[in-house]
Amino acid sequence: MTNDATPGPKGLRKGLTAYGDAGFSLFLRRAFIKAMGYSDDALDRPIIGITNTYSDFNPCHGNVPELIAAVKRGIMLNGGMPMEFPTISIHESFAHPTSMFLRNLMAMDTEEMIRAQPMDAVVLIGGCDKTIPAQLMGAASANIPAIVVPTGPMLVGHYKGEVLGACTDCRRLWGQFRAGERTEAEMDEVSGRLAPTKGTCMVMGTASTIACMTEALGMALPGAASIPATHADRIRIAEASGAAAIRLAKDNVTPDRIMTREAFRNALTVLQAIGGSTNGVIHFAAIAGRLGFDLDLEAFDRMGLDVPVLVDLKPSGQHYMEHFHWAGGVPRLLRELGELIDTTQLSVSGHTLGHIAAQAEIVPGQDVIRPRANPIHSGGGLAVLRGNLAPGGALLKRSAATPALMQHEGRAVVFDGLEDMAARIDSDDLDVAASDVLVLRNAGPKGAPGMPEAGYIPIPRKLARQGVKDMVRISDARMSGTAFGTIVLHATPEAAIGGPLGLVRNGDRIRLDAQARRLDLLVEEAELAARAAAWVKPPEPAGAERGYLRLFLDQVTQADQGCDFAFCRKPG
Ligand code: FES
Repeated sequence: MTNDATPGPKGLRKGLTAYGDAGFSLFLRRAFIKAMGYSDDALDRPIIGITNTYSDFNPCHGNVPELIAAVKRGIMLNGGMPMEFPTISIHESFAHPTSMFLRNLMAMDTEEMIRAQPMDAVVLIGGCDKTIPAQLMGAASANIPAIVVPTGPMLVGHYKGEVLGACTDCRRLWGQFRAGERTEAEMDEVSGRLAPTKGTCMVMGTASTIACMTEALGMALPGAASIPATHADRIRIAEASGAAAIRLAKDNVTPDRIMTREAFRNALTVLQAIGGSTNGVIHFAAIAGRLGFDLDLEAFDRMGLDVPVLVDLKPSGQHYMEHFHWAGGVPRLLRELGELIDTTQLSVSGHTLGHIAAQAEIVPGQDVIRPRANPIHSGGGLAVLRGNLAPGGALLKRSAATPALMQHEGRAVVFDGLEDMAARIDSDDLDVAASDVLVLRNAGPKGAPGMPEAGYIPIPRKLARQGVKDMVRISDARMSGTAFGTIVLHATPEAAIGGPLGLVRNGDRIRLDAQARRLDLLVEEAELAARAAAWVKPPEPAGAERGYLRLFLDQVTQADQGCDFAFCRKPG
């Protein structure tokens, strides 16, 4: 098989090492690679790279070796030559200070390894929260044909008759422990039940959100987002993705042909309809930036008025990813969304989204993917707020918030950073009431640094013991997609660069009006100007004088630009 849709070097001849003699470079390359035992026939085939993100530190990627084997089978059955190569792997719980700090490093690693090594297409195997965004950012910049194979969600866990899901129930049970409702022995026991198989978190957290958005974007095969990690169909879709990569290479279907502005609209529509993670907005803003455009947050918010939440999954609803899959998954959701989706958009399957929606499995009696006439929430899952506390925007996950708190005015209780919060939040001396508004600042892209998932500010212990389950919480941080509550995130610009969150003082009044999309600090402008004049930039973290941390602090953009590095965005 040849891959000659576009002129230029193919296979092993691509991107020769610079010795100043192309013939010698190719000769040397062939000589070295033959040490692996490959034949000339194998080396003359289209070369399909496969990212290996397996790591002993990453259980969400525990099935990667099996997926790689299946992808290779799909490539070889279709006449290609698979070449597996390693990239960084990031797991949420094994990344200090936070996985978001490393996402851009993984994106750069992925981009440069795709670019540096000779391949006609690449299969990107990822799953845990930051990995697929990083891979799509890298693939968008390298712009060679690419297809994503998510590792897939875990199966649910069980504990004393209760169905458990990572990590919505991790947080719920931890909250009960903090409130004195669970013993340490119970928590030890339950820690073995929350994540019972390999794969990504099985609620509609960030990993599931990104997988569904990626499928709707057209960068993964139909069904790829939701097949459980441990199911035989997951292996089969990996094989099919290997086969698809050969076709993408042959026809030179580059990511910019799939990831159009309209395709992003489709992905964001799906984000609203699944009640997905706020992180979906940040990551897709970063991917869009690699293609030369910004996400229009106002349009995204307007979209939320038209797009209902149709998928009944935790944390917004009741079910888990395996139930979503057996209800028909993303294809069935696309079908329910009807004209809200641009059905002309192309997928890496070679079909349009309209074709994929038409082929969706009809599952009688399922109630996980609702029709538009009977949604979970009539408005979309996410709202974009503006106001003098977030002139660059902030996000509220309406579908996981307490309705009674959506219009709320309260007294600010301010924490100056993660350490301050950890030191005081559980103190019996903390002056706090259930009607107050908790504010966490200096936890944004530069402030923490890396914008950790600290926006889920815990309910102060003394209030938790009184039975308080939710309060209005505001920060410049992110939040895990598995979390829930009336939580305003990504306040932009962040406090650490002089954003208005840095001007709030204990006792100030703050008003949240989700209906009007407003977030305001009720302090006179003259007083705010005086506070701004007296504001002192917080000190940089230890080690900031050199290395990746220095690069990060110098280059990371704000949440509305996806926290990518400024120099990685495509001018446009
Ligand atoms: Fe990896 Fe949740 S920790 S997806």
